[in-house]
Amino acid sequence: GKDGYRHFMEKELHEHPLVIGQTLQRMIDPATRRVVMPDLPFDLAAIPRITMTACGSAFYAGLIGRYWLEAEARIPVDGDVASELRYREPPLAKDGLALLISQSGETADTLAALRSLRQAGQHVMSVLNVSESTMARESDVVLDTVAGPEICVASTKAFTAQLSVLACLAIAFGRARGSMNESREEELVQALLDLPGRAAELFALQPAIQQAAAMVADARDVLYLGRGSQFPVALEGALKLKEISYIHAEAYAAGEMKHGPIALIDRNVPIVASVPSGRLFEKTASNLQEARARGGRLLCFTDQAGASRLGPLAEQVIALPDVHDFVAPILHSIAVQMLAYEVALLKGTDVDQPRNLAKSVTVE
Ligand code: M6R
Repeated sequence: GKDGYRHFMEKELHEHPLVIGQTLQRMIDPATRRVVMPDLPFDLAAIPRITMTACGSAFYAGLIGRYWLEAEARIPVDGDVASELRYREPPLAKDGLALLISQSGETADTLAALRSLRQAGQHVMSVLNVSESTMARESDVVLDTVAGPEICVASTKAFTAQLSVLACLAIAFGRARGSMNESREEELVQALLDLPGRAAELFALQPAIQQAAAMVADARDVLYLGRGSQFPVALEGALKLKEISYIHAEAYAAGEMKHGPIALIDRNVPIVASVPSGRLFEKTASNLQEARARGGRLLCFTDQAGASRLGPLAEQVIALPDVHDFVAPILHSIAVQMLAYEVALLKGTDVDQPRNLAKSVTVE
């Protein structure tokens, strides 16, 4: 049941801290505090290149994983949604790794992409929430997300569980490839282990997010912005809003806005920005400044340090708990999911069973 929550989505949002913790427990040895991988039928250090594919939210998790794998492990990652990748005929590296991500393990497009990548000689690694799924049976290695059953059609906890696995995978690759030293590994593992606690603190922001939701609920169109690993967070936020509130939302890399979408901006198109203080803060803030100057109304998710700097610019500023830059996209993705939920409540939509959608898309 819903355990007293109004919707499965609300219940599942509250399971984020637990699910992140359980998933990390599978991948981080508590004694050595090092990432442990299951037995692999290939050598991580010998993988020349990764091809990542998935659908919907799972694909956005993979995009965040790509930032981590490239930055921390210095391994090239190509990625595309499964329905495109299948027909794209990309040249694949010999002995490359196919990285598939799926909550259900049954998504038709992802499964078909798995089969064609396997056919093309790639090693197959899947990040899955259902260990008895078709994709699990057809993979060389399965990395489990320990999210438990996800009932709401809109994915929430499975997403952060996928991110937890992908963060550990980036660390494992970084070590195997010699591109991450031990102190960096310790630092990132600590950041991950701190995450369930920080995620639990997020729920104290529910009243603020509820208030911010009013800014979005009357809009016809909403723009989501982020840079770097926060760009896929914007994609996730926009998808979730579309799915459960039926408001049109689009996500852009913040720096891309001036190349077109800025033409849309006026006070009727609220902008949701995911902008933690960190390496890309100033750049993102200056993009937001451009939007503000054109009458754009800003709702910014940031942290304590970011809040004081964004304050004058934004109509609503929500400061998330302070975390290491590496894990910030995990926390921020929960925040945009919570926002979508609050907007859907205001709209009175069928949150758990949105129109036209199915939990598992088993047709092409
Ligand atoms: O079961 P999967 O993870 O393979 O499903 C992939 C997508 O269909 C799924 O993430 C979809 O986009 C969700 N409705 C997102 O909330």
